[in-house]
Amino acid sequence: MLPRRQFLQRAAIGAAILGIPLARAEQMFSQDIPLPAPGLLSSDPDRYWAELRRQWLLASDRINLNCGSVGCTPLPILRAMIDHILFAETYREPAYPWFGYEENTRLRDLRDSLAAFLHCKRDELALVRNATEANNVVCNGLDMKPGEEVLMTDQEHPGGRCCWEQKAARFGTKISYLALPKPPASKEQIVDLFARAITPQTRIIFFSHITTVTGVILPAKEICALARSRGILTQLDGAHAIGQIPLDLHDMGCDFYASSPHKWLMSPKGTGFLYLREETLDKVKLWVNIASGEWKNYDQKAYRFSNLGTSNLSVFVGLKAALDFFNQIGPERIYARGHHLATRVRDFIAKQPQLKIVNASSDDFFGTLVSFEPAPGSGLKDLSRIAQECSARNIRIAGGGERVRIATHLFTQPTELNAFFDAVSAALR
Ligand SMILES: Cc1ncc(COP(=O)(O)O)c(C=O)c1O
Repeated sequence: MLPRRQFLQRAAIGAAILGIPLARAEQMFSQDIPLPAPGLLSSDPDRYWAELRRQWLLASDRINLNCGSVGCTPLPILRAMIDHILFAETYREPAYPWFGYEENTRLRDLRDSLAAFLHCKRDELALVRNATEANNVVCNGLDMKPGEEVLMTDQEHPGGRCCWEQKAARFGTKISYLALPKPPASKEQIVDLFARAITPQTRIIFFSHITTVTGVILPAKEICALARSRGILTQLDGAHAIGQIPLDLHDMGCDFYASSPHKWLMSPKGTGFLYLREETLDKVKLWVNIASGEWKNYDQKAYRFSNLGTSNLSVFVGLKAALDFFNQIGPERIYARGHHLATRVRDFIAKQPQLKIVNASSDDFFGTLVSFEPAPGSGLKDLSRIAQECSARNIRIAGGGERVRIATHLFTQPTELNAFFDAVSAALR
């Protein structure tokens, strides 16, 4: 139990940060709601997931089926962040209580947990603020000769694509794009497309592990193996991957991997990481984007890229709490639940003759995101009526005109999917 003064402080800060009335914040922070007993999952799974949902502030009169653009952070993670905001200001912590300079014990513990979660080494992980920043570190830090090429897909997010566009405009780097099939037929088809798009000038392949456009999962390990066999670097934009699908970065064999745990891992907003393969970092010179005292301290390995100047340690305390929360419930269990719900969405959409699935053609190609477009020849021009029906029912979705993307997570309730199915049926009627 928190002392009353500290509790009120926390509620007030929670209210200020989360933009909710103080009375509601007081109510939320007064209840330390226990996680449902793990045994409930086998005896009464529906009750387990319904009880777990009480860990989120999600409004009961809203349905969020776009938890991929930005994640929904549960109370234990918010509490860890808010408690640290308060504690840091007491200056009792012997180490420097902010992020952006030398590594303190909290950051070291966090990097250890993150490394265990991602199957890589602590020294291969830089903490940054989001995937956009991580993507920029690689692109802007890599020397390339004019005419050398980056190969990327036509489904890249601006947070990964635009640094390359700027580099092309400044330094004459060439960009070549390959069009991804919607949906893919097989992993081999995708790998073959990459193989055929490589030229003698290709220096690096940049691609999303899970694309923002359709949520398709690309065969990362196979593409990285292809690139390595041709002496080409690989940079993955994994903004959507951590927390959505299991990750083993060493097994994947990529050189660089950027991500935003504030999406699917549900950490506080403003938490990102960049994985830099140890051997690659030893071989390829990478300049820092933001130069401060440690810019050429190569002994720091990946942490050199975390010297950004004073920034927010509390959100990274929240990232550690997010890893703990995930591990406590069980990453496999979380994936299985989200994928099961996404499969329900896929199966429902597949039965609508006016709609076409554009990513989830087989289990390999989707995790917890399902996207669809009007089926060619069906007479349906766009998906605006579906968007309108969803909006009228307070259902948040991604997209709406050309394409809709639906996200499911461990807090998604089957009844919420039923409400979405009703909205789609009404729109198509
Ligand atoms: C593939 C991809 N890359 C990068 C980003 C940008 O993420 P952030 O704003 O966290 O940097 C997104 C966001 O949706 C994304 O989907």
